[in-house]
Amino acid sequence: MRVLSGIQPTGRFHWGNYFGAIKQYIDLQDNDQAFYFIADLHALTTIRNADQLRQNTQEAAIDLLALGLDPKRATLFRQSDIPEVTSLTWILMTITQMSLLEKCHAYKDKKAKGIAADAGLFTYPVLMAADILLYDSDLVPVGQDQIQHVEVTRDLAQRFNTLFRETITIPESRVLDSSAKVPGIDGEKMSKSYRNVIEIFEPPKKQRKKVMSIKTDSATLEDPKDPDSCSVFALYKLFANESQQAELAARYRAGGMGYGDAKQAVHEAALEYFREARERREQLSADTDTVNDILSEGARTAREKGKEVLERVQSACGLSTTH
Ligand code: TYM
Repeated sequence: MRVLSGIQPTGRFHWGNYFGAIKQYIDLQDNDQAFYFIADLHALTTIRNADQLRQNTQEAAIDLLALGLDPKRATLFRQSDIPEVTSLTWILMTITQMSLLEKCHAYKDKKAKGIAADAGLFTYPVLMAADILLYDSDLVPVGQDQIQHVEVTRDLAQRFNTLFRETITIPESRVLDSSAKVPGIDGEKMSKSYRNVIEIFEPPKKQRKKVMSIKTDSATLEDPKDPDSCSVFALYKLFANESQQAELAARYRAGGMGYGDAKQAVHEAALEYFREARERREQLSADTDTVNDILSEGARTAREKGKEVLERVQSACGLSTTH
């Protein structure tokens, strides 16, 4: 079975990225084939600074490795190192209905705000479909916000198979109920574009400040509080084991505990949770040659598979002399 997923290097990774997606990448890396890539072509729809994109891409690779992605078990590569993906994008584009893309949220949200969208943003889900379909992927671990895009991918794969012949593997998304939509400091979905994120590797002091600013209701210190409707508690659940969760939930319900205490608990739990990853990150940052080698080696492996699938697709639709 092949597992595949991608992540954009548009900034440093945050808790939503980790619990919604990266943790799944790591949990699934023992599957016979796990492919993970840094989606720099997608990031080009928002970053227009060469040095910044290059640097973000490298930081993204370092972060993923520090968090536990193991290049011996999984293939890690840069999206743009596989030119076959843009060839497949074009082929898929020719069978993509405009109405399908008009429904997709990245474009719809921008349009609703009155911001002019580029063709790149509009056709973004087709590139994502090519990312997935190019490697015969079976399972795509993602957060909730990407389910729609995986559905588009399935639609396009089915449409290709119907129009031509059975060629493309139909993938499925994998979303964890417990972390499908991690809240940010304002209680909305944690997202770089909402500026409400808590980054995984932020300096501890800065991170604490952010945790302390998480929005809560106006209950007073003495009031009993509802853990199930509180973002602070939702975040605590990600880091703590069941007995720790039960203990904090009881303190919420009893009253007499302020939100500041709960926030401090989140801060400490997060520091402990990512302690080893922070240490590994320091070492990897000092060894960028190794990181670059891992990406090159990953690209070789991914490209071999990508070429094979692209040839199959080209043959099915008449873009090659072989039948
Ligand atoms: P991106 O880079 O925005 O996000 C990377 C992953 O993090 C998940 N995520 C979250 N999960 C839970 N709660 C949150 N608050 C949260 N915020 C982000 C996302 O769901 C995602 O899984 N289009 C993709 C990148 C991509 C891709 C692909 C993914 C390109 N090609 C092929 C899978 C397969 C994106 O923008 O993710």
